[in-house]
Amino acid sequence: MCGIVGYTGKRCCVSTLLEGLRRLEYRGYDSAGLAVVENQGLTTVKNTGKVEALKDRSAERWPDFERCEGYTGIAHTRWATHGAPSEINAHPHLDDSGKFAVVHNGIIDNYLELREHLRGQGCEFKSDTDTEVLSHLIAKCYQGDLLHAVAAALNKVKGTFGLAVVCSEHPDKIVIARRGSPIVIGVGNDETLVASDISAIASYTKRVIFLDDDDMALITPGSIEIRNIENVPVSREIAQIDWDVSAAEKNGYEHFMLKEIFEQPQAVENTIRGRLDKSAATAVLNGLNLEPREMAMINRIVIAACGTSMNAGLVGEYFFEDIAGIPTDVEQAAEFRYRNPIIEPNTMVLAVSQSGETADTLAAVREAKNKGAIVAGLNNVVGSTIARETGRGIYLHAGPEIGVASTKAFTCQVSALLMMAVLFGRGRRMNRTDGENLINEIQQVPNLIQQVLDRAPEIEKIAIKYAKAEDFFFIGRGCMYPTALEGALKLKEISYIHAEGYHAAELKHGPIALLEEKVPVVALANNIPGRDKVLANIQECAARKSPVIATATDGDADIASLVQDVIWIPECSRFVAPVPTVVALQLLSYYIARERGCEIDQPRNLAKSVTVE
Ligand code: G6P
Repeated sequence: MCGIVGYTGKRCCVSTLLEGLRRLEYRGYDSAGLAVVENQGLTTVKNTGKVEALKDRSAERWPDFERCEGYTGIAHTRWATHGAPSEINAHPHLDDSGKFAVVHNGIIDNYLELREHLRGQGCEFKSDTDTEVLSHLIAKCYQGDLLHAVAAALNKVKGTFGLAVVCSEHPDKIVIARRGSPIVIGVGNDETLVASDISAIASYTKRVIFLDDDDMALITPGSIEIRNIENVPVSREIAQIDWDVSAAEKNGYEHFMLKEIFEQPQAVENTIRGRLDKSAATAVLNGLNLEPREMAMINRIVIAACGTSMNAGLVGEYFFEDIAGIPTDVEQAAEFRYRNPIIEPNTMVLAVSQSGETADTLAAVREAKNKGAIVAGLNNVVGSTIARETGRGIYLHAGPEIGVASTKAFTCQVSALLMMAVLFGRGRRMNRTDGENLINEIQQVPNLIQQVLDRAPEIEKIAIKYAKAEDFFFIGRGCMYPTALEGALKLKEISYIHAEGYHAAELKHGPIALLEEKVPVVALANNIPGRDKVLANIQECAARKSPVIATATDGDADIASLVQDVIWIPECSRFVAPVPTVVALQLLSYYIARERGCEIDQPRNLAKSVTVE
């Protein structure tokens, strides 16, 4: 959600901080700020709105970023939780003396209590944020040692944090700490960087250290000292990251979202590469680290996830039950963590998360581990907290996903879940021929996606036709039901049109009351089991005068006469159909949002990675 960057080294830090923030902007972005340690003390600059506005503000203070006298600094992009988006509430937050500056992701649960206590001691609070208690607390605990002061302050805090602190008395030091909100250290030559997300620092160094919960670190340009919050030294390995910085650029596309939609053939190719074993007619997913015997003992799968990842999980539920015969439930991660879920020894909990940092999904992982489940992650970001804490799983290898509205992660997740179902299925009741057929189909997925992308101009025309609608329904059956949920989610996320995904059969149990001329229905009527029933549902919509846009399989002669518009999808089986179909729905949403002039990559109120409850 919010983003943190920090730098200490030989270069002036302002441009590095601003560039880092720019790369983090996709995470959260209602305001931004930075604090630089200069000879005369801390200088802070803050602004509401985009990082570009902060850059202009910073130029008033430092006309030449490369010649400022500040070599250590911290910066932040904020996504408001406590207190409205405003300059006062933007980070960094300072103590009353102006010596300590703090940037913070997460939520301090006991901030009201701490604030009252600190007010009683004479502290003056300027913002409405929970974070500000940290700067005052650190100042109160300070006796000359910055690391000790931060440790002492954090011992009084309940809640979650990823934070970075600078002090005007220590011009070459940053103290960082984490509990529940990621922080990574970038190890450079005579310079050290910190960030909440690798993308902020990957252009400066590929050597990184991921902090674990309750780790703290004192960093200087040439040293990194890591301790836990109890002040005991701990050692963390340096990881070499394989992160292509250009993958996080738009490369000529108007938006990251469009680029990521068009990247999907390659992204899925990367997900499936080396994981399909034709000779054994199965999938090879070594990261799951399961012996065939262990796999055979798994008698229930629970998928915990949020947002788009949950919709992918819902598609996966059909795969696991239909292909592998394993009873599967999909739980909203937020619900899973609090509702005392039933986990038996042979239950596998699969945490599906693009970022691997979503707070509720991470909490579900911890709950599942406590209850003795076999826990695996399905993640995109290598080294993310969920990937590390589960210790087993499948990486998507989809490359960085920057657009807030998830696209390529979904298609890669669905492809990975399908491979996983084939693997489990082959270990159980699936015969070799069925395994071979599915493997062949999975191999076709990148090509199916490409065929849909080639039809983007036709989808664009349909999108423009319906761009003024204020309500939409998306309906489907079987695997196409969660596909409809994802189509509706995409549309509302980026175009702000009210859109609901429904099971086609449920339409008449309420929502049909809302259908009329101004309410289009997107009906997923591909030629797979359930299609005839969807056609009947389309008639119900038409009878209420709703215009219907259908996705249909190439060559379906009946459909055109029933609906206003058809989005054609190449022929494929029911198992892979959600992937090309969702790509068409992504394009539909994208072009509608563009037609409405929406900020597609940074939709209002949304954040890429939700690291608070
Ligand atoms: C946020 C994002 C969504 C994403 C969801 C889950 O809401 O805006 O696009 O699907 O978080 O994120 P995850 O990283 O766990 O897949």
